[in-house]
This record gives sequence, C-alpha cells and structure tokens, in this order.
Amino acid sequence: MTDLDYVEQFHTEGFVFLPELLPHDLLKRMQAELPKVLDEPGPQRFLEDDGTTVRAIYGLHQKEGVWREVATDSVVSKTAKSLSDQDLYVLQWKINPKSAQTGDQWEWHRDFPFWQAEDGVPAPLAFTAGIFLDDIDEENGPLRLVPGSHKSAALQEEREAWERRGITDRESNDWSSLVSNNLSFAISDDGASTLSGDRQAFTACGPAGSVVFFNSNVVHGSLPNRSQRPRTLALISYNPVDNAPKNWPTPRPAYFVNLDPTPLA
Ligand code: SIN
Ligand code: MN
Repeated sequence: MTDLDYVEQFHTEGFVFLPELLPHDLLKRMQAELPKVLDEPGPQRFLEDDGTTVRAIYGLHQKEGVWREVATDSVVSKTAKSLSDQDLYVLQWKINPKSAQTGDQWEWHRDFPFWQAEDGVPAPLAFTAGIFLDDIDEENGPLRLVPGSHKSAALQEEREAWERRGITDRESNDWSSLVSNNLSFAISDDGASTLSGDRQAFTACGPAGSVVFFNSNVVHGSLPNRSQRPRTLALISYNPVDNAPKNWPTPRPAYFVNLDPTPLA
C-alpha cells in the first residue's frame, strides 16, 4: 500500500489496518513486559464478571520504558502523526488482554461519546492505534469495525443513551458502564447492521505486531474469546492538542485520561 492509500483509507473508511507494522524487537519487548503490567494490582486494573480474569488495564501513559517508547517514539507514533495534520498527544493508553476462554465481549460502540460525556473532549478528532500483542484470528475475539460509520449521524439508541447520560459518579468509583460488557453508549447488533448497510463489518485479523488505526467515531466491538489463546490488544488513543478538554470540572482519574496535553516531540 502506498502512503497515500493508507491515509486515504483511514479518512474514507474510518480505519486502516497495517499488518506487521511493529519491528520484531519492539513487539518482543512489549510482550516481555506484559505480565508485570497485568499482575500489578490497583484501580487501573479492571476484571471480567468472574472477578478474577483481567479485562482491561489503563494508565500505560503513566509508565516509562517500552510503553512510553511505543506511544511517543516508534513507528506507531510516526504513523499516527501521518494521519493527522495537527499536533497530537496521548489521550488514553490501555490494554485489553481478552484472556483465553474467559475474555468477554466489547459491545458495539463509538469511543467519542465516552470521551465527550466523561472528559469533555470537544470534537471527534481523536483516533486509536490498536496494536496486536498476539496473533489474532476469527477465533480469539478480533476487533470488528463498521466501515464508513464515522461519517454517520448518531442512531436513535445513541441519542437516547445521551439523554440518559450523567457523567459517571466520581464518588462511587464504579466505572463498570465504561469498561464492562455492558457499556453506557452501546449500540445494538441491529444498529450496527443499519450502519454497515450492504457492507460487512471488517474483522481485524493478523499476526502479532499488526496495528489497526481507527477514528473515535467508528463503530467497533468484539466477541468473547472462546479459544485457548489470549487476544491481547494494546490501545493508544491520540488526540489533537487543540482538542484537549478545557476547564473540565470533574476529571476522571489520571489513569483513564491523560490531563497533560503535551504534544508528541
Ligand atoms: C476490544 O478490546 O475488543 C475493544 C476495544 C475497545 O473498544 O476498547
Ligand atoms: Mn472502543
């Protein structure tokens, strides 16, 4: 694919899949550091309904070493910069390990409504790099994306979710509507197929080291992992510095959202 092809595809489809983008060495170093990050107890770690399986780890932007390198000084950050004509910073940095047999679904959703409602991100200009830390195929719960859905208006069900919204209660520390298998801005299967029209959702499958970049308004989700293999997806979200939340009264904890919009070098 030429440079223009992938940038064009990102803008027209709302995502672009770049197989085996990561250099082998960088991938190996991330994989080697992964168990330490998954084992670290703390509020940044979220579990599946079974109460033991790790579902999501947030706050990788607060870590140094390979996690900082991949987000700010790697082929991933360079590619991110090529997809935007604005200065970018890391808005959110998380890992969804989707464990063998027990990793649960992520319902269809767009990311932007969460960032808008919870963090005061003004416009849908952020986008995410989904980095494969495992080989991913149809069996282990791949990410699925609805082509062109970033250009569609909100569905009735999304507007209703928006009416019901209130930002998550900061006191209760219950973030389940943002991280669980029951998301506050979820889209039904019918809604997703309305948006895909006569096109199929794209299933992002490929070897470890592949990366899918997707717009924050693209509808995406994934099924449970019923296979014997994990499906670890590392997700770095980039936002234009000019689109950082301003004077937002109730910031989420810093592991959820980076409140320091220092641009990538
Ligand atoms: C997934 O891990 O399959 C879902 C990614 C996301 O929307 O956070
Ligand atoms: Mn998402």
